[in-house]
Amino acid sequence: MVTTSTRRRATFHSLVIAEVRHLTADAIEVTFEVPESLAHQFSYEPGQYIAIRTSLVGDASVRRSYSICQAPVEGQLRVAIKRDLGGIFSTWAISNLRAGMQLEVMSPEGSFTSQLVLDRPAHYVAIAAGSGITPVLALVESTLAGHPDNRFSLVYSNRTAMDTMFVDELADLKDRYPARLALYHVLTRERRSSDLLSGRLDAAKFREILGSLIFPTDVDEWFICGPFDLVQLCRDELAALGVDASAIRYELFTTGEPGRPTVQAGRPIELSAEEAVHTITFRLDGTTATVTSPVHSNESILNAALRVRGDVPFACAGGVCGTCRAVLTDGAVDMVENYALEPEELARGYVLTCQSIPTSDRVAVDYDA
Ligand SMILES: Cc1cc2nc3c(=O)[nH]c(=O)nc-3n(C[C@H](O)[C@H](O)[C@H](O)COP(=O)(O)OP(=O)(O)OC[C@H]3O[C@@H](n4cnc5c(N)ncnc54)[C@H](O)[C@@H]3O)c2cc1C
Ligand code: FES
Repeated sequence: MVTTSTRRRATFHSLVIAEVRHLTADAIEVTFEVPESLAHQFSYEPGQYIAIRTSLVGDASVRRSYSICQAPVEGQLRVAIKRDLGGIFSTWAISNLRAGMQLEVMSPEGSFTSQLVLDRPAHYVAIAAGSGITPVLALVESTLAGHPDNRFSLVYSNRTAMDTMFVDELADLKDRYPARLALYHVLTRERRSSDLLSGRLDAAKFREILGSLIFPTDVDEWFICGPFDLVQLCRDELAALGVDASAIRYELFTTGEPGRPTVQAGRPIELSAEEAVHTITFRLDGTTATVTSPVHSNESILNAALRVRGDVPFACAGGVCGTCRAVLTDGAVDMVENYALEPEELARGYVLTCQSIPTSDRVAVDYDA
């Protein structure tokens, strides 16, 4: 398992696209070839994500994260991209990506992975909505293959059947594991034969599902991936039912803030000689660098660090993925958002540098820690 202490640092490599397959009218699956020489860089735990970096015509470089949607397979890496209405990269990717193209891909990261250490078979449950199925598909495949008696229950919400990604793959898994995989498709804009599986997956419906289809006392590990509101709702309901937070993993694709997220990387800052500054020192790959940041600019450590080193790790720049984390070794910061770090990581001094604004004159962080 890639843990915070043993984790390799995220780095970008050029990968060739082997195949692009349409999953629905608004989603594609992209398979990359991973050459033998990069096999170690691209090894991953089911549930992790990569980031893609590219320059689009008329735009600066964009980075977007995509969860890997299959259990590990030698020599390849597969992600699925769903169109985010009005979204820059997903719209471009769905119209333009083709086999043979090369993209800059970041080595896998993330902690939306199974953390169970059991000497008995386990029951896993996932609640996924829309493109939130991507990491969950990898988790379903790998956990069911991992032990002959493991079970997986999946509640998967979509607007309509036509919108649903990976219907065939899930049906194939159900054929392969008829007694061990329970699939509950919830459709919000189409009627299903059961009322419970029709309409919005709100707190009442979730509670009903937990009282009739899935029983929390029979579950070892929970995975939740979908829009911010759904993730919060499921976490709250599970907490109310006494499910220990340590048994719940969740992944957010966005912070759910209305409008465009405040991107905390690559923001131009005006520097002038007379101004009060914070002095930021950071260690990365064994080398230490220092940069100053005007106090008035309110910029993140990541934004400042990128001025002197282009390879400082980040992906979402919005506080959800955790790629930019580092240990705060000196000074104080105000961390605006944190949807990625676990309490245990916070206790060890980790901060999200894309969200951390210095509040002391001098600040030091260590990306290698
Ligand atoms: C860990 C992680 C894993 C992820 N995995 C997946 C995955 O497996 N599959 C997947 O499809 N996605 C995934 N995502 C989401 C993905 O990274 C992108 O955020 C998504 O594809 C949208 O990118 P975009 O460039 O198309 O949209 P952006 O251009 O970033 O826009 C995002 C949204 O903001 C809106 N917007 C843009 N500009 C404005 C504006 N000026 N005012 C108001 N609103 C605006 C857009 O309409 C759009 O709805 C993941 C994200 C994370 C953090
Ligand atoms: S880059 Fe994603 S949390 Fe900072």
